[in-house]
Amino acid sequence: MSESIDLFEAMSTLRAVRRLRPDPIPDDVLERVLQAACWAPTGGNTQPWKVIVITDPDTKAGLQAVYQPEWESYSAASKKRYAAKTGEVPATTLRIFDAGDYLAEHLHEAPAILMFCANPEMMAITDAGLDRVSLIGGASVYPAVQNAMLACVAEGLGCTLTTLHCFREPEVKALLGVPDSWATAAMIPIGYPVGGGHGPITRKGPGIMAASETFDQPWVNG
Ligand SMILES: Cc1cc2nc3c(=O)[nH]c(=O)nc-3n(C[C@H](O)[C@H](O)[C@H](O)COP(=O)(O)O)c2cc1C
Repeated sequence: MSESIDLFEAMSTLRAVRRLRPDPIPDDVLERVLQAACWAPTGGNTQPWKVIVITDPDTKAGLQAVYQPEWESYSAASKKRYAAKTGEVPATTLRIFDAGDYLAEHLHEAPAILMFCANPEMMAITDAGLDRVSLIGGASVYPAVQNAMLACVAEGLGCTLTTLHCFREPEVKALLGVPDSWATAAMIPIGYPVGGGHGPITRKGPGIMAASETFDQPWVNG
């Protein structure tokens, strides 16, 4: 555990760690991960979210039974799209799919699964009236999700933000006793990594992702 890990190091090494050992997570470590989530900002400071910590073997098996077929459909469709576009799936992408297959098969072996839920009725969703998919509701739960994952990095725990269970959300809600007015936002299996865990990531930088003053003006450093 390295609670004093540099924040920038944590942010720049937080990657999807899909191969987890079943070893239990000490209570104090889990508590710090949950505390980090609670520090996240939310609209109006209402904290309209809740995280369910799932360690029960039967419940984890239920989640795995929901997740695996959804992962298989998703990965089959993605591989088909790659093949149609480029003729073949790049080796790096194949490695990601292999790790995804592993997670789907072994999800229930993770020592804990965090299910982040959110209640839209407790949120001021300022873009709800616009003629597009609403994003603002998520903005009061995903900072908590990210804080929890950064805390996982600090604690040496692997984690992956997953969302495929949402294709079968009613089943998941019934399994976990989630009330009607609540939604599920992210399912995060956590545990100590089988291999090296978090590490270098591949991301576009500010030269591509940032703009200066207006949307189409390139960002120029300094
Ligand atoms: C909104 C969101 C949903 C995701 N859903 C899944 C998922 O269902 N299953 C999975 O294995 N990974 C999922 N991921 C992880 C991404 O695939 C992963 O972060 C991305 O491919 C980059 O990989 P890296 O973080 O290892 O660099 C999700 C990530 C985000 C942000």
